[in-house]
Amino acid sequence: MCGIVGYAGTEQAAPILLEGLEKLEYRGYDSAGIAVLSPERGLQVEKAKGRLKVLRDLTKGGGTVEGVLGIGHTRWATHGEPSDVNSHPQLSAGRRIAVVHNGIIENYVEIKEFLSSQGVRFRSETDTEVVAQLLEYYYNECGDAMQAVYRMLDRIEGAYALGILFRDLPGAFIAARKDAPLLLGYGKGYSFIASDVTAIVKHTRDVAYMEDGEVALVTAESIQVFNAMGQPVEKKHSWVDWDVSAAEKGGYAHFMFKEIMEQPEAVRKTVSPRLRNGRVCFDELGLTEEEIRAFSRLFIVACGSSYHVGMVGKYNLERLLRRPVDVMLASEFRYADPLVDEHTLVIVISQSGETLDSMAALRQAKALGARVLAIVNVVGSSIAREADWVLYTWAGPEIAVATTKAYSTQLVLLDMLGLRFAEALGSIPEEEYARIVAELQALPAKLQAVLENTEQIKYLASRYFNHNSIFFIGRNLDYALGLEGSLKLKEISYIHCEAYASGELKHGTISLIEKGTLVVALCCYAPLFDKSVSNIVEVKARGADIVALTTESLAGELGKTAENILSIPDTHVILQPSLGVLPLQIFAYYVALQRGCDIDKPRNLAKSVTVE
Ligand code: M6R
Repeated sequence: MCGIVGYAGTEQAAPILLEGLEKLEYRGYDSAGIAVLSPERGLQVEKAKGRLKVLRDLTKGGGTVEGVLGIGHTRWATHGEPSDVNSHPQLSAGRRIAVVHNGIIENYVEIKEFLSSQGVRFRSETDTEVVAQLLEYYYNECGDAMQAVYRMLDRIEGAYALGILFRDLPGAFIAARKDAPLLLGYGKGYSFIASDVTAIVKHTRDVAYMEDGEVALVTAESIQVFNAMGQPVEKKHSWVDWDVSAAEKGGYAHFMFKEIMEQPEAVRKTVSPRLRNGRVCFDELGLTEEEIRAFSRLFIVACGSSYHVGMVGKYNLERLLRRPVDVMLASEFRYADPLVDEHTLVIVISQSGETLDSMAALRQAKALGARVLAIVNVVGSSIAREADWVLYTWAGPEIAVATTKAYSTQLVLLDMLGLRFAEALGSIPEEEYARIVAELQALPAKLQAVLENTEQIKYLASRYFNHNSIFFIGRNLDYALGLEGSLKLKEISYIHCEAYASGELKHGTISLIEKGTLVVALCCYAPLFDKSVSNIVEVKARGADIVALTTESLAGELGKTAENILSIPDTHVILQPSLGVLPLQIFAYYVALQRGCDIDKPRNLAKSVTVE
């Protein structure tokens, strides 16, 4: 995810900014840039695609950029591929305003159209350039930097942490925040802003956290903060006593846990820009209703966890669309002589967008005449580029090998695609559509609630971490969810795990159940609850220990059969796997922790599998 640092002081800003950006590298990025203001040389901007070293070399360690006031940014591409021109800072057309931004401006298309109609010419594909251009538009009207900022904030929708330099505002820069973290750092004769404390902790531990709607005017001597109405705000200071090395993972011991905890935010970023007036809107897709209706069949192709998203997707899309949906492992698809043609939409799901098997399947599908829609996290990746259409998950960079937030964002995006297609096909009653949209909106808060209640999961992990073999069972969506729970556990803890459709147990697997075998029974899917309970009784009769996962409203009933019950908030059935996966990820994490495994880099595995 993008990183911001800003400095106002008496020393040269550029080296301090570069050093701060280095501390934010752990967040992941694909380009970096700085803007520095000086009375003699005005507003200087340097930015480049690639690692920070490229920017360092370009600026000779910051030496070519003079001035004691500046802002810097590491960008992880969302709108527009990683490139020099799409990097931040983004400049206004008159080169009078430079902006760095974390977050997503949801209504940037509409504002861009408006400004274009006013003769403003855009250079980048970013939503951030809209902020710079809109600021200049208002600044031209009112001639006051703060006023222009407030008018711009009134107009934009979405999430943002902003650092803004005005060429005509010497000695100060402006910061603003809504739904994206930004903090203020106080020093003697210098001030900072940063997206996280890692970037500035070397210089100051005296910080204050900006709240939504606040705007700060930052100079070397002071930081004045105002609320959304422009009234001054007294900030409460905090003292950072973190160990600096822990801070590089945002304070978490492992990237995997950090990424698990980021899921409410990641899902919100994926969902909320695509919901407008209660409808799912994919502005970026450009698929017409006729094109949607012309597909007689959908085929989902992916690997690993992305394939498990496809397994959930098959159940959900067939339910929503009443059309056949196939799901196949990409490594199988490419050699299976699959039955796809020009009436088939092949959906390729990939976090990295570089998985070789998925890429080969995409090419195979196209060669057979199918159209391909990719669901991808990494902007500008190979799969994103070669697909006919792409939907980005906007989960931010995922560093741990075991995927967590990418899985969750792929899942909701596929559900949303289902809603969009169902609307076009007329296969969903309006009330059902509205119910699902309402639950999508409520999802980030429900995910957060699950993450705030992990003590029991931790306890269960400490009780079962030394097992050699664990089974996940479930029916329908619970079976699809079990596949992911089992993969998560086996890849990071090295315990042998298998997921089975509960109804299949009696056809062979039940012979493996003996006294003390752990069975994780997934019982969220209400229509088959009774049958799932019967399966629990069967394995218990063979001596199995049960950890059961269900919904809050079914927990009481399940308690009559199983002992260790984890529950998730009630939601619409198609969204249950989105909530259910969290306890399974957390269980896997704590089991691996107890076993002393290398959680972020499990043995034999790579984050991006670019070999066959
Ligand atoms: O980048 P992709 O989504 O294409 O990757 C697919 C799999 O390699 C990936 O999901 C893998 O299974 C993860 N290690 C699962 O945590």
